[in-house]
Amino acid sequence: MSPRSSDFPFVSMLRAAFAAEAPYFVNSFDRAAAMFGEEWARNFEVTLRELLGAEPAVTAAVQGYADFAMDALRLHKRFEKTGEYEAKSYADASSEVYLNAGYMNDLYLPGIMLSHFLWPHHYRQRLFFEANFLPEMSAKAGSARFAEIGTGTGYYSRLALTRVADSRCDGFDISPSSAAYTRRQWQAFGVEERAALHLKDITREAPAGEFDWAVSVEVLEHLEDPTGFLAAIHRMMRPEGKAFITAALNAPNADHIYLYRHPDEVRRQLEEVGFTIEQYYFGSAYRPRTAGVPVPESAAFIVSRGEP
Ligand SMILES: C[S@@+](CC[C@H](N)C(=O)[O-])C[C@H]1O[C@@H](n2cnc3c(N)ncnc32)[C@H](O)[C@@H]1O
Repeated sequence: MSPRSSDFPFVSMLRAAFAAEAPYFVNSFDRAAAMFGEEWARNFEVTLRELLGAEPAVTAAVQGYADFAMDALRLHKRFEKTGEYEAKSYADASSEVYLNAGYMNDLYLPGIMLSHFLWPHHYRQRLFFEANFLPEMSAKAGSARFAEIGTGTGYYSRLALTRVADSRCDGFDISPSSAAYTRRQWQAFGVEERAALHLKDITREAPAGEFDWAVSVEVLEHLEDPTGFLAAIHRMMRPEGKAFITAALNAPNADHIYLYRHPDEVRRQLEEVGFTIEQYYFGSAYRPRTAGVPVPESAAFIVSRGEP
């Protein structure tokens, strides 16, 4: 597949914007296109067309992604030397990132949105979600009430709402900018009537025992106490519920506080609060140049809640 193909005008527009605005990222664009082929281009095309809709928004997203990814690369260089994330409290990350509308709208949210397609471990995580979690949700139609916690861009709840007929979502996030972006994504895909957004920290206030399904993608590493957060998700679910929960490993970022070095650390925390692991996916951003040098990874788990 060629991303310049006339079948995918928005994907082609995005590549042209990369070539003009951030040519050092064209290689990673082309690598993802070659790796995942036509299905990737089709999925990406739909997202860009519905969510961004016109060339100025595509260019702005590329500029935001470029700054976001350069920031991550700079922090990763430092991380390779120190083996630690820069010390930061959750309160500082909240004010510098989640409550900073300029940073969220210009860099963070467009950066995350494009990373879902341009970073191979992120795109593979979506494929894992679609192949293994959504079919279970669809098979139990009629009881598909789910929570997405830490909606960010709203991408994962949108995938579930568009794929699983009759599903209903309650989204939770502490950032007004994430809430607005999530609502925009739901509206763009015509699913907003089946979804509600709550500006809430679920560790402080959340409904108990209500959800058949829960989704939380790349939030754990943002927290000082991820186990307390997982316990809060566990409390929100019904006994027969299942959840899709992921974490970023060895991936420094402006708001990554909790350093996971190995997927087993996430697994242990999930089990500690009572979840049972059913399936998992681990993926790396790229092959390490030298053995032992840390590489950003994703760990995604499908878990069942079990009896309290
Ligand atoms: C990296 S983003 C998550 C990515 C998102 N799932 C997506 O796919 O676009 C992290 C999000 O978690 C939110 N967040 C951080 N702490 C939270 C908390 N205690 N409760 C709910 N959301 C939180 C942030 O505001 C931010 O929107």
